[in-house]
Amino acid sequence: MKICRTVEELLSNVNTLKQSNKTIGLVPTMGALHNGHASLFVRARKENDVFISSVFVNPVQFNNKEDFEKYPRTEENDIRLLEENGCDIVFIPTAEEVYGNEEIEEFHFGELEQVMEGIQRPGHFSGVANIVSRLFIWTMADRAYFGEKDYQQIAIIKDMVRQKGFNIEIVPCPIYRDEDGLATSSRNMRLSEDARKIAPKIHQILLNSFRQKDNLSINQIQAYVEDEFKKIKEFELEYFCIVDDTTLQPVKQRQINQGIVGCIAVWLDGVRLIDIQRYW
Ligand code: PAF
Repeated sequence: MKICRTVEELLSNVNTLKQSNKTIGLVPTMGALHNGHASLFVRARKENDVFISSVFVNPVQFNNKEDFEKYPRTEENDIRLLEENGCDIVFIPTAEEVYGNEEIEEFHFGELEQVMEGIQRPGHFSGVANIVSRLFIWTMADRAYFGEKDYQQIAIIKDMVRQKGFNIEIVPCPIYRDEDGLATSSRNMRLSEDARKIAPKIHQILLNSFRQKDNLSINQIQAYVEDEFKKIKEFELEYFCIVDDTTLQPVKQRQINQGIVGCIAVWLDGVRLIDIQRYW
């Protein structure tokens, strides 16, 4: 596996690959890699001639300085996991290398960012679009893989691709869960032992609401989930939104054939966890 730390090195490798018509699959990451990432690596490896990943804790997508500073950095382990998963090139730049003296572009995503993470984390998605658009250009990837836990992020990235006219396929990948149902996340490392035992309840509550979906109205599903979280004092529910799976706008009553997803953000032990449940 080649480790590129500069854009120049990355571009020179990518140019050679493109000259021999290789297809490139990209998995952008912020490191602290776990089995959830590995499930994306497996797909990128299988579906492309070349598999490129990036490890970069992107400062411009954090609206909370403490969250940025506390974000786990585990480069040695990350390199090992990428090697084990057949990665060809990993790009590990510094912030200086990525942004230098360049202006940070301001992206706008209309309604798509006026809900959920977009409200709670102002500027977050513009920051994501800044790094992801650069990675798409530098890696010339044919496909890019993203986990569905960050459901809104996928919609935003698809819109960024449309805005920029990039020729790349965005591949959403199912959430990878630990055996007890907790969605894998780099943030799980920050949970205390006790909090880690409680965390799987997020998925359990959502799953229970899914099982009752045919007997409940959307409002009742909403109330059920909110009530269940109130019963567990360790949780602080930030939002639970039941939304159209494409527009991400809140749904009060389901239309025929409409895809619907519940998206949640919960605080536990000072750690912010997100998850989703598809209902229809
Ligand atoms: O989902 C993430 O880990 C990040 O938002 C991403 C896509 C790697 C951009 O920094």
